[in-house]
Amino acid sequence: MARKDLLELAPLDREEIDRILDQAVPFKELFTRSVKKVPALKGKSVLMLFYEPSTRTHSSFEVAAKRLSADVTNFDVPHSSVVKGESVRETVETLQAMRTDYIVVRHGRSGLPEMIARQTRASVINAGDGAHAHPTQGLLDAFTLKEVFPDPAGKKVLIVGDVLHSRVARSTTTIFRRLGVEVAFLGPGSLLPKHGAEGVRRFTNYADAMAWGPDTVYLLRVQMERQDVQYFPSLREYHRVYGITTQRLRELDDKGIYLMHPGPVNRGVELCDEAMDYRRSLINRQVENGIAVRMSVLYWLKPGAVTGEEA
Ligand code: CP
Repeated sequence: MARKDLLELAPLDREEIDRILDQAVPFKELFTRSVKKVPALKGKSVLMLFYEPSTRTHSSFEVAAKRLSADVTNFDVPHSSVVKGESVRETVETLQAMRTDYIVVRHGRSGLPEMIARQTRASVINAGDGAHAHPTQGLLDAFTLKEVFPDPAGKKVLIVGDVLHSRVARSTTTIFRRLGVEVAFLGPGSLLPKHGAEGVRRFTNYADAMAWGPDTVYLLRVQMERQDVQYFPSLREYHRVYGITTQRLRELDDKGIYLMHPGPVNRGVELCDEAMDYRRSLINRQVENGIAVRMSVLYWLKPGAVTGEEA
């Protein structure tokens, strides 16, 4: 089925996920060549509509689109009529008149990319909406995990931290479980969903979670900007109880456990400084793979398509 938009991962079947991940492999191979561009999206236009800050997602989508030879326009929210009170609907209608083919959108409100997708024939890609979803993060995490575990079914990933506010946790858990990976959450009870997905174990104690035997520990960023109340006593306390301290890093190394984090890292909170140089850290690889996976997503979507669900 041709899909116009990528709003979340849950609707994708296994075949579609495999197609995106498999196609990312030759795109990644391009990076080692002197000419890193292919003409796959020549003549197409990509609009970047970021209402929230981003380093990795924004820059890797821009690089991905350019490596596919698309034209990229960055909508500069702080210098646009948004600051004069222009609504998202009006912004999109205005930009739609410019006949863009793809809109990559990040917004603090959950569900906003879906609203835009209903409004436009352009392919809309959710680059993170509130605490709802971050589908390309989930895809790049799956691609990265598959690089170290080509058949990840049965592997165990422990997701640590602020699961409650994390769109990354939602999307990454969805895709990992679709690949047969066992997922567990670790964090303060106040930052774990009360009713975790069926089959996802919840731990509030670090030692108990490690006894579960994870192959990979995936640290989430503590999102201070989404916490309207204080969920734990202090950042120092959080690091001591749930963070990867120097001592815990040695334990990970002894057990051959990989480390992931979506970035940006709060050093001294989720991770100690030494973790940035950990030999089994996949964090930089996640960033690199983000470009290949986002190229694959842009290549896979069909602007203007009417999906089976909508027909
Ligand atoms: N992982 C992630 O979404 O990072 P950015 O906020 O830098 O895009």
